[in-house]
Amino acid sequence: MNNAVSGFSKLSKEQKIEWIANEYFSNPAEATALLKNYWNSDAALQKLHDEFIENTITNFYLPLGVAPNFIINGKNYTIPMAIEESSVVAAAAKSAKFWATRGGFKATVLNTEKIGQVHFFYTGNVKKLEDFFIQIKSKLFSETESITKNMQKRGGGILNIELKNQTQKLPNYFQLHATFETKDSMGANFINSCLEQFSKTFKAEAQLYESFSAEEKNIQIVMSILSNYVPNCIVRAEVSCPIADLAEKKIENPREFAEKIIRAVRIAEIEPFRAVTHNKGIMNGVDAVVLATGNDFRAVEAGVHAYASRNGHYTSLSHATIENDVFTFWIEIPLALGTVGGLTSLHPLVKFSLEMLEKPSAQELMQIVAVAGLAQNFAALRSLTTTGIQEGHMKMHLNNILNQFQATVEERQTIKNHFKDHVVSHSAAVDFIKNLRGNR
Ligand code: MEV
Repeated sequence: MNNAVSGFSKLSKEQKIEWIANEYFSNPAEATALLKNYWNSDAALQKLHDEFIENTITNFYLPLGVAPNFIINGKNYTIPMAIEESSVVAAAAKSAKFWATRGGFKATVLNTEKIGQVHFFYTGNVKKLEDFFIQIKSKLFSETESITKNMQKRGGGILNIELKNQTQKLPNYFQLHATFETKDSMGANFINSCLEQFSKTFKAEAQLYESFSAEEKNIQIVMSILSNYVPNCIVRAEVSCPIADLAEKKIENPREFAEKIIRAVRIAEIEPFRAVTHNKGIMNGVDAVVLATGNDFRAVEAGVHAYASRNGHYTSLSHATIENDVFTFWIEIPLALGTVGGLTSLHPLVKFSLEMLEKPSAQELMQIVAVAGLAQNFAALRSLTTTGIQEGHMKMHLNNILNQFQATVEERQTIKNHFKDHVVSHSAAVDFIKNLRGNR
C-alpha cells in the first residue's frame, strides 16, 4: 500500500481521521470511534488542545497524580506528577512522609544563568574579528532593546556576550556565546529572539567594518539558538538526619541501611551502566513534575544528562555521605524551568498544578522538581537495597492486570488477599484470575 499523502495539513480534523482510518485500519469505523472517544465533550477545551500542535487527531491521556506531605524548606507541598509508570507516585509519597518526620527536604537554587549561541564561520585575521567584536558589542545590546525591555523590568535580560574562538575544534568556527537571566520564564523565546537579532546586527555591522577585507566581511551565520545545557542554572536538594533517626518499622538497623545507600550511590558514581538507571529513577520524579507544570521535559532531560557527563564520564546525579553519624543525601541538577509563559497559562491542568503548588516562582519550582527527583531516588535505593524493587512494582502491576480483566470488587478482594503472601508475577496473576472465574 502506498501511504503517501499530499496536502494532509490542509485537511480538516475529520478528514485527517478519515484518511488515517481508511489507510491503516481494517475496521475504519472502530478506529474513528476510538479517536473520537478521547475527544473532550467541551468543544472549546478540545479546540484549545487541538491547537497546541499540528495535525491533532485526538488527546493522549497520561494520569495526573499527586504526592502529598512534602516538606521543602519548612513549607508543606502537594506535588503534581504526570506519569504513566506505576509505583512512581507511591514512591514519592512514601519518601515525602519518611522525610517529613526527619527535618524535611532543604533546597537551594545555586544559580539561574541560561545560555544561547550564535554559531558562525569567519575566514580571516582573528585579531581583527576580536577588535570588531569589542567595537560592536554595545550595539548587540542596544539593538535588542525592544526585545529585552520587558524582561529588564522583571529584573532579567542579557547578562553578557562573549566571542568564542572554536577554530581548534573546527576550522573558521566562532561563536557569540551569550548568557541570560530570564526570571520566572523558561526563556526559550526570549533568548532565541535576542540571538537572532545579534546575528543580524553582527552580520550587518561586519559588512560596514572598514578594517575587514571583502572575505572577512562575509561572515557566515550558521544558526542562532539557545543551549539546553545549563550548567550554571543549578538547584541543590538535600535530606539529612542522624543515622539513628533513620530507624523505622522496616529499617531495624539504621546504620546498615545508611551504609547500603552510600554503597549504592558510590556504585552509581563510578559505574555508568548503573548510573544511567540510577539517574533514570531520579528523572521519574523530575519529569513527572516538569510535565505536570507545563515545562519542556526533553530540554530538561538533555541538559541533565549532559551535566551528568560533565567530567568526561557519565555519573550519578545524587551523592551521599555519613559524617559524624549524620546521614546526608543530596542532588545537584541543572533545571531551566518557567512558571510564566509557554503552556503555563494555557493548559488548564498546568494552571491547576501551579495553583496547587501555590503559584511558585521559577526558582521555587526548581527546588520542588529537584526534591521530587531526590525523593524518587531515595525510594528506589531504599527498595533496591532492602526488599528489592519487584515487590512494590508487582503489586502495582497486579492492579493493571485486574483492570485489564475488568475484575469485580469481589474478585479484586480475593485476588489481593491471595497475593498478600504469594509472589506476584504476570502469569501467576492471570492464572489465578482464570481459575477463580473457571471455578464459579
Ligand atoms: C524504575 O523506573 C527506576 C529504577 O530502576 C531506578 C533505580 O534503579 O534506581 C527503580
